[in-house]
Amino acid sequence: MPAKKTSTKKTAKPVVKKQVRAASKAAASKGKAETVVAEPAAPPAPKPMEVKLTAAKGRPMLQWVGKKPLSRVTAFPAQLAETFDPSGELATANGASKTGNLYYGDNKEVLAHLLANGCRGKVDLIYIDPPFDSGADYVRKVTLRGKSALAKLEGESYSLGEQVQYTDIWANDNYLQFMYERLILLKELMSEDGFLFLHLNLDRSHYCKSLCDEVFSPDCFHNQIIWKRTAAHADTQGVGNVHDVILVYSKSAEAKLKKTFVPYSPEYIESHYSLADADGRKYQLVDLTAPGPRKGLMYEFKGVWPPTGRVWSTLPDKMDALDKAGRVVITAEGRPRKKQYLDEMSGMPVHDLWDDVHPVNSQALEATGYPTQKSEALLSRIVDLGSNIGGIVLDCFIGSGTTAAVAQKLGRRWIGCDINKGAIQTTSKRLQGIIREQLAEQEQAAAKAKGDLFGGESTDKNVHATPAAFSFRSHRVNDYDMAIQHNEAVALACEHIGVQRTKTDSYFDGTQGKRLVKIIPFNHPLSPTDLEQLKGELKAREKEERDILLVCLGKELACESWLAEWSRLRKRGDVPNKIEVIELRTDPKYGKFMTHAPASAKVSVKRKGSELHVNLEDFISPTIIERLDSQDSRLFKAHVTDWRFLVDCVMIDPAYNGLSFNIALTDLPEKKTDLVNGCYTLPAPEGKTTVAVKIVDMLGEEVVILAEV
Ligand SMILES: C[S@@+](CC[C@H](N)C(=O)[O-])C[C@H]1O[C@@H](n2cnc3c(N)ncnc32)[C@H](O)[C@@H]1O
Repeated sequence: MPAKKTSTKKTAKPVVKKQVRAASKAAASKGKAETVVAEPAAPPAPKPMEVKLTAAKGRPMLQWVGKKPLSRVTAFPAQLAETFDPSGELATANGASKTGNLYYGDNKEVLAHLLANGCRGKVDLIYIDPPFDSGADYVRKVTLRGKSALAKLEGESYSLGEQVQYTDIWANDNYLQFMYERLILLKELMSEDGFLFLHLNLDRSHYCKSLCDEVFSPDCFHNQIIWKRTAAHADTQGVGNVHDVILVYSKSAEAKLKKTFVPYSPEYIESHYSLADADGRKYQLVDLTAPGPRKGLMYEFKGVWPPTGRVWSTLPDKMDALDKAGRVVITAEGRPRKKQYLDEMSGMPVHDLWDDVHPVNSQALEATGYPTQKSEALLSRIVDLGSNIGGIVLDCFIGSGTTAAVAQKLGRRWIGCDINKGAIQTTSKRLQGIIREQLAEQEQAAAKAKGDLFGGESTDKNVHATPAAFSFRSHRVNDYDMAIQHNEAVALACEHIGVQRTKTDSYFDGTQGKRLVKIIPFNHPLSPTDLEQLKGELKAREKEERDILLVCLGKELACESWLAEWSRLRKRGDVPNKIEVIELRTDPKYGKFMTHAPASAKVSVKRKGSELHVNLEDFISPTIIERLDSQDSRLFKAHVTDWRFLVDCVMIDPAYNGLSFNIALTDLPEKKTDLVNGCYTLPAPEGKTTVAVKIVDMLGEEVVILAEV
């Protein structure tokens, strides 16, 4: 049965959600029986819960303007949005408790939700790589799929331009309050012997160390790891900065990090293990003495006494045993030394200077294109150091999903969270790929074991740890469909209205001419509460006489009387600032960029015996076309000859329950030059079923098509 539907989700440009929903409802009411709004059913009425927190009472305490303690938070319920369970293990209680969990939302709310839902004191390792207060917008380069779509013209790759993934522009004090609150919440989630690895750059690390001392106490500080993330640049003026800082804290002062070793570097081996036996076995000669005096260790060995002030490092019988095993060499100076073989050593104990862990190479298989992606090598070391197999690893700034990917590979359970839908999509795709590979490996190993007459354990050192689970769930905490694109929306609004961004003001977003500009978050209309906040802000800045421009999507009716009263006060000379409001939704001059034409797809779904045949026949994304057209319409016409250039991945749930999307099939070509297939065959569930087909385009916009067969 053919099915055609409009988009329900959007990540490319700000969406006027009410308009999109209204359009969907209108389509449904026109009697298109097969066109179903594929949003998860309305969540149960949220039952917020108050979560109590232990106050931070460490010393010293850092002070900043507007520092507020955090002694309680409100926890909202989460809605299950997607499940990935190719092996069907989630149906079992064991599977459900070990599965990975990915949360889409502001981490303050997600952490509160976790605290209210049984995770207090359960997390063994937290790695976070928060925004650094760098004053930058982090963007991802977006390209189309396919060889010809990627063809170069005049040296330029065929790209959709840049998409803001997240903004890292804060007023100083806001950043500290933001981090302070998250650290307090994270501490509550940590198990008694749990660890936090906090990844920062040089500008913020000293402030955050003070915050951690306050929240955890200085007794819980373990290390300040220096990670060399880049080589020096030739054009650097003065002393180049090539490292980040990773602070390590534990929940309790008694917790101990695992002793971990890393392989010796080739340079170390060359300088320390230059000697070899006839069979090539490398060794070095090590001292057999120790500082004295010590009982039982001062004796004559082969006519030699230890030098003054020293004793032998081992008892006489052990020394004889070493000698008998050919492990004692008498040097030219007549001193006994021990042969220490390279192959018997565990490697170099990990220290706090990490210059041997490389960042992600843009050509590497693990590269996702997400800005600020950290390497799996870095996370492997951290996960190894701070947790055991089966332990819970949490990253609430998950970005491209590196922490979850490594935890999954190293047999840990994981929890990830991000406020950016692009990050959630990238992480979900990455984890789907890893889990499918792990299942294939497991199948191969099982097949091999069957044919192995002797059975037994594998001796292959490269075999990965057994995964804690072969599944994960994605949830939403609060409705961020709108809020996620706040960053991109603010950037766009500033660009269209000509606002100069201000990085140092804790309240205003920028200036336009002589006016101060405040952009009201696009997840709610301007309300009298926002206006009262503005009034409070102006009251605190006695000498501020500049006029104010408020930019919002729309405003509540009650704002009219508030603004009228403000004008009256101004005319009377009580307040100096004129307030003007731009409502983007209706503003004839500035509002145009807010309109969004949703993507659409044409899909046919047929049942043939015990099989489902799903054919994706067409996909149209007005947003992508608009972006391409704005670059060069010749390029568009020359290269975009196939709808599949626009599609990043296709997912199918053959038995959609109307609540969450269970990913049974994913078509996500690994290489950017490859296209999705578009034709899929999968086992048909028995009886009448709703098939959901989710298509994600190259800008992250999702279209979900439902068909009953
Ligand atoms: C530096 S990146 C993390 C990169 C990650 N370590 C990786 O390897 O890809 C920081 C991430 O924090 C996210 N973020 C910023 N503020 C957030 C918040 N309040 N809640 C959740 N995530 C947030 C951003 O969207 C961004 O993806």
